[in-house]
Amino acid sequence: MPRPIETYFPDGNSEEVTSNPSPERHFQELLERRFSRRDLLRGTLHAAFAGFVATSGAAALTRTLSPPARLLGAETHPDTASLLRFTPVPIYNGDGILVAPGYTARPFLPAGTPICAPYPPYLEGGRNSGADQEAQVGHHHDGMHFFPLGEGEERNRHGLLCLNHEYIDAAKLHPNGPTVENGRRTDVDEVRKEVAAHGVSIVEIERQEDGTWNVVRGPYNRRITAETRMVFSGPVRGSRLVQTSFSPDGAQARGTLNNCAHGVTPWGTYLTCEENWAFYFVNRGDNPREHARYSISATRGRYGWATFQEVDAYARFDASLKGDDPTEDYRNEPNTQGWIVEIDPFDPDSTPVKRTALGRFAHEGCWAAPAVEGRPLTFYMGDDARNEYIYKFVTAQPYQAGVTRGELLDEGILYAGRFNEDGSGEWLPLAHGHPEFQAACHAKGVSFADQADVLVNTRLAADVMGATPMDRPEWTVVHPDTGEVFCTLTNNSERGDQVPVDAANPRKGNAFGHIIRWREEGDRHEALRFHWDLFVLAGPPEDSEVPAAPGSPPLDETNMFASPDGLWIDPRSVLWIEMDMGTDQQVEEFERFGNNALLAADPVTGDIRRFLVGCRGQEVTGCIAPPDSRTLFINLQHPGEGSEENPVLTSHWPDGGSARPRSAVVVITKDDGGVVGT
Ligand code: FEO
Ligand code: CA
Ligand code: CA
Repeated sequence: MPRPIETYFPDGNSEEVTSNPSPERHFQELLERRFSRRDLLRGTLHAAFAGFVATSGAAALTRTLSPPARLLGAETHPDTASLLRFTPVPIYNGDGILVAPGYTARPFLPAGTPICAPYPPYLEGGRNSGADQEAQVGHHHDGMHFFPLGEGEERNRHGLLCLNHEYIDAAKLHPNGPTVENGRRTDVDEVRKEVAAHGVSIVEIERQEDGTWNVVRGPYNRRITAETRMVFSGPVRGSRLVQTSFSPDGAQARGTLNNCAHGVTPWGTYLTCEENWAFYFVNRGDNPREHARYSISATRGRYGWATFQEVDAYARFDASLKGDDPTEDYRNEPNTQGWIVEIDPFDPDSTPVKRTALGRFAHEGCWAAPAVEGRPLTFYMGDDARNEYIYKFVTAQPYQAGVTRGELLDEGILYAGRFNEDGSGEWLPLAHGHPEFQAACHAKGVSFADQADVLVNTRLAADVMGATPMDRPEWTVVHPDTGEVFCTLTNNSERGDQVPVDAANPRKGNAFGHIIRWREEGDRHEALRFHWDLFVLAGPPEDSEVPAAPGSPPLDETNMFASPDGLWIDPRSVLWIEMDMGTDQQVEEFERFGNNALLAADPVTGDIRRFLVGCRGQEVTGCIAPPDSRTLFINLQHPGEGSEENPVLTSHWPDGGSARPRSAVVVITKDDGGVVGT
């Protein structure tokens, strides 16, 4: 049931109002209790670790995962204080933004903001055309990165913001929702607009004296959409599996779909990740393994784009056999999606590159370990579907600052993770010709023609190698100092059905999700073995735990959360955790968690605090800051999701009044000008 509408923007001017209702007394008491308990505990733990360091020395630091992780951290900030200095906010279910006291949160770059010529203004009520949308910020903001421009202090207030647009809410995108007759789309401009609302926006932005940010209407601004021409590189380029009527030589593709989380390379390019692309296609014939293992529909694509068979750019979403040969139809079009795409934000004329060596799955993030001169570079990636795997890619060639470019990503080994019950783990090579891989294929009776075949069928290759099915791997991040890798496992209602619970995924029907972490053997990211443990089991007080802080109490009303998704570690080593409970969860059994929130954690002490709660029906995602961390950018994606039209819209954020809700960036600043999170 939709909840009553309550607005925190009484004058409709969302730019000026930050709602920050006084926390209830009950919450204050809880806070006082929790922090006095925590401080006591922390003092004891740090004393114990200090003793361990003194007696065990550096050798202990690489022996097992958990103690070293905390020991290193204890050395980094030996005082007993948490990295976190702000007062947490309570659970909240209103339609504004609730942020920690002393902070201001302002919406920025909402969907439809004009960024390219001819700068068509956003029109309320879904009245913009497809052509307008091609020059405006897309919808459903997701992963995001800030690339500084200039030198020195300028880099903190001027840069390029790259942001992903994961999907659309067609009911809100058009005046009366999608126009459909007899199950078929009838308005081709609606489809043009939907295609253009996907992809990536690159926007030059600049901070003003008052802490707000503006769009610069400059030459960097660019829209990349679900139709932009791209090229393949790596082993799949030219493969028979990506030959299409558009690209008979298998060298090119059109568009990037369902761009969820992201990554960044040390040479300053943006990596956008194609997640739930499979739902956009239909294949009414026999589904080959490269479609079936990714759940391509046999009846209808997600938005029905293939209705327009007379428009080649839309006909390609129908992968049914039509010609005699792959170059005569779009049977291979679904194989052109599911990749990591590299974009050079500093060259608006550059062609995005699908880096196929990093595999094809429901890509959720692609996070680089810190680059070390002369050593291979490692990227960590999740495959967000129930019982799918965690991957890493290790380049064949060493990283060389100032020399290395994207070609480094075209050669290397893709691995899938196996998480053993005893806390050890192994990386399993998905490499055609590798003795271990060939032996597993032989034993399972599965064959791959070449590495392109392995990569197009990444999930099958990982099945063959016996990777560990996980509870929906979402974002990964690497702690820049300790080298620990964190990955969110958002939830898995099916855990314990076909796939049993295990040590790494310990809860049946995992409703609330957890965060796993691991450390590579010898602290070398290219290692083939690792040690893992659980950082936090999310959930309510009666079903949560913080194993990272042994002996600590479970989560409580000051920090309970569910469905962790986005992650980022800022330069102070604060681990930011973003919630994505589904819309159905938020109005049903998860109502006690309130709206999706942004939390901060001290990865050493396990202290977790709720920093911000967003408006109704959204998920929090896309967390990044300029170098000085005096601004924090996040995204609130799909406010009001699940409510389709007035008068039942559950959210009017950020415009207020009776406006349709739209995704937007949120700019968070500390009122005293300080670093966010302190
Ligand atoms: Fe697009 Fe896995 O969230
Ligand atoms: Ca996500
Ligand atoms: Ca999610």
